[in-house]
Amino acid sequence: MKEKNDSFIIKGGKKLFGEAYVQTSKNACLPIISSSLLTTEKVKIKDCPDILDVKNMVLMLQKLGVKIDHDGKDLIIDSSGLNNVNLDCELTKTMRSSIFLLGSLLQRFGTIMINTPGGCKIGARPIDIHIDAFKKLGVKVSCLGDCLFFDASRAKANKIHLKLPSVGATENIVQFACLLKGKTEIVNAAKEPEVVDLCNFLSLMGAKILGAGTNKITIYGVDSLHGVEYRPIGDRIVAGTLMTAVALTGGELTLRNANANQNEKLIDILRRMGCQINIKHDIIKVTKSGRLNSIDVVTGYYPEFPTDLQSMLLVLMCLANGESRLQENIFENRFLIKDELIKMGAQIHQIDNRNVLVYGQNELRGCTVQAKDLRGGASLVLAGLVAKGETVVEGIRYIDRGYDHFEDVLNSLGADIKRT
Ligand code: EPZ
Repeated sequence: MKEKNDSFIIKGGKKLFGEAYVQTSKNACLPIISSSLLTTEKVKIKDCPDILDVKNMVLMLQKLGVKIDHDGKDLIIDSSGLNNVNLDCELTKTMRSSIFLLGSLLQRFGTIMINTPGGCKIGARPIDIHIDAFKKLGVKVSCLGDCLFFDASRAKANKIHLKLPSVGATENIVQFACLLKGKTEIVNAAKEPEVVDLCNFLSLMGAKILGAGTNKITIYGVDSLHGVEYRPIGDRIVAGTLMTAVALTGGELTLRNANANQNEKLIDILRRMGCQINIKHDIIKVTKSGRLNSIDVVTGYYPEFPTDLQSMLLVLMCLANGESRLQENIFENRFLIKDELIKMGAQIHQIDNRNVLVYGQNELRGCTVQAKDLRGGASLVLAGLVAKGETVVEGIRYIDRGYDHFEDVLNSLGADIKRT
């Protein structure tokens, strides 16, 4: 759907130099904001990114009767007045992260009706793993049109095996089980840093959680949780996006509030492609000069190379010296920017819906391209940074979902991007 004032105009060819502070993680903030509903005491979440997905979740919660104040970038959440539970169907259609409210609201109210959420068009984005897990905990799930009705009145702790280490399903069950009497175990749990951050936040609220970051998480239900102040982790995907930007344009970038351990696979790949990367505490310095080497990469569940950085890597491969191969193992159909990059002169051959072959070129040519999802949109901006001439990226509302003032950060490093 075309939004007015919805594009970036980028003049390519500028190297990036300078320092950037990495925003707080979108994918940590969203489940943490949801978890604040597990207490009627005040919760302060510090340094939240100014992005659409957070704004939409705040709006959704305010519609339910949650009082949320802003103090700078801090959110002060008071859910003592939380009343109705029909999630706003319009809003739940626009983003996947509304599914993360399921666990906390179901625990809070005992029953909930949700609209099957929308989110980016990267594959089917089903929620069967969430549903199966809740059923295993004795929750009754019934389908009413395109709404789902959950009834937790007879829920009880149990051992759950996830068929895939789903981040969202893990986070929903953890939130729900914190206040569920007895011992709940999640086997084949997601190990992403954002899951660990959520568990740290809940533990500070008084939850009893063991094994966060491993494939088996155990939750011992407690009677109540208390308010807390918390700063979520830095956004490893935004950090990875900025590192890729300088790997493309050349120059030198210093990242602060970046945890190199959470981007090990990308750092290894960038080094193999020819970047120099120095790490000291929460500072990552990336320098790149000369042509990138080609490389073969597969995405996987953490700590493998993250699917959310796959589109950025595709852009790098388009300019690398030789033939590269990219395999996407998490989502089917997550090569939405392929055709847009081909318009810019890239040579990409899609073998099937999970594999592409890329023949590196000397340059990309600026033209008008369309963002179709969040990370793909950010990647098209990166392509515009290095393309010859001017690139117009349309559909930047997708990018605003997850990047806090993306063009300002890049322009502060020497890019030339105008938001129309
Ligand atoms: C989270 O989405 C992230 N979103 C995604 O980031 C990220 O790409 C994804 O995890 C994988 O790391 C947030 O944290 C808000 P999954 P989520 O459940 O939880 C399949 C971004 O750009 N699956 O781990 O929805 C699913 O189709 C976004 O910030 C089922 O089959 O991802 C996918 O193939 C994009 N049934 C795989 O599992 C289910 O019930 C992993 O999905 C659930 C998932």
